[in-house]
Amino acid sequence: MEIHDSVQKRHEEMTGWRRELHSRPELAFQEKWTSDFVAEKLESFGLPIHRGLAGTGVVATLKNGEGPSIGLRADMDALPLLEKNQFGHRSQNEGKMHACGHDGHTTMLLGAASVLAESPSFRGTVHFIFQPAEEGGGGGNVMVKEGLFEKFPVDAVYGMHNWPGMEPGEIGVHNGPVLAANDAFDLEIQGKGGHAAMPDLCIDPILAASQVVSALQSVVSRGINPVDSAVVTVTQIHAGDAYNVIPDSVKLCGSIRTFKKEVREKVISSMESVVKGVASGLGASAELRVKQGYPATINTAQEAKKAALAAARVVGETKVILDADPSTGSEDFAYMLQARPGCYIWLGNGNRDGGCMLHNPYYDFNDEILPIGTSYWVSLVEQELPIS
Ligand code: NI
Repeated sequence: MEIHDSVQKRHEEMTGWRRELHSRPELAFQEKWTSDFVAEKLESFGLPIHRGLAGTGVVATLKNGEGPSIGLRADMDALPLLEKNQFGHRSQNEGKMHACGHDGHTTMLLGAASVLAESPSFRGTVHFIFQPAEEGGGGGNVMVKEGLFEKFPVDAVYGMHNWPGMEPGEIGVHNGPVLAANDAFDLEIQGKGGHAAMPDLCIDPILAASQVVSALQSVVSRGINPVDSAVVTVTQIHAGDAYNVIPDSVKLCGSIRTFKKEVREKVISSMESVVKGVASGLGASAELRVKQGYPATINTAQEAKKAALAAARVVGETKVILDADPSTGSEDFAYMLQARPGCYIWLGNGNRDGGCMLHNPYYDFNDEILPIGTSYWVSLVEQELPIS
């Protein structure tokens, strides 16, 4: 392990920042305290900052002579979740929690900004991008739409996420897809309500919905090339209020995950025909509405290679995992990768006590990995923006 000395000596200070951020979680687009915290720190490092992209977004720029330009991004928001940890730095904002480690991501990027501002061991420009609303609000997309890369031009943009399934000291780099596209759907099945004892006079939407849920299982298993992957999950069914009434309609909701555009399109069109066909076979009608969410997060080949090299300089080549399966989770860094080449890596968070899966009420970011992620940022900048 090659941790930069200047990073190592900030470990304790960074741990303090991380725990302070953990105790003050804020939800998407409401990261006011967090945004102030980030801005104050960046200003204390002597960096010029820009505020206001996507509301609470903060961008700091460090220019050291002429050369290439790179964007490094962290996310700042927390989740609407009741924290169950009892340690001193647990959430003070009830019902809100840093259960995805964005407190750690923000801290590591601040750490890298501090190190590089003190001793700019590179030639070119680094933009430190702190975005709001990764958890469902698409803050990264809003920043891109509001001109992030026009105001702060970059040759490539890089992101990272802690990953509890991997050991501390391991870094995962995917050449291609890392995370899936995430769409939500609403489905309404319209029947004809009436007396539970007289089903022949009704069109039972509950029976139709039951069959629709089963039939939806064939969309992926029978319609998608087995070497591709996709998920269709029904997560909600709402209908009925009484023991003796067949309701008029049923509402269902769910989630669709895909990696390829053509697979996504095929899944949605098959769902449409399955839902309509099954419902109409039972005399009911159905309406499917798909709400497009984050696209798939796809690293570009060249930048994935560069990220793997920079990671190897920190954790050693054998600890850079190149063949991890992509995850069916999703991430709005995808929008930045649609706009510019780049790479999003996984940083092993370990499996210790709090090392449970992301979004769990007992989760906690592992402070031991702060120097690893920070060193990766510094190495990447030194490698991509070389002095000579
Ligand atoms: Ni996250």
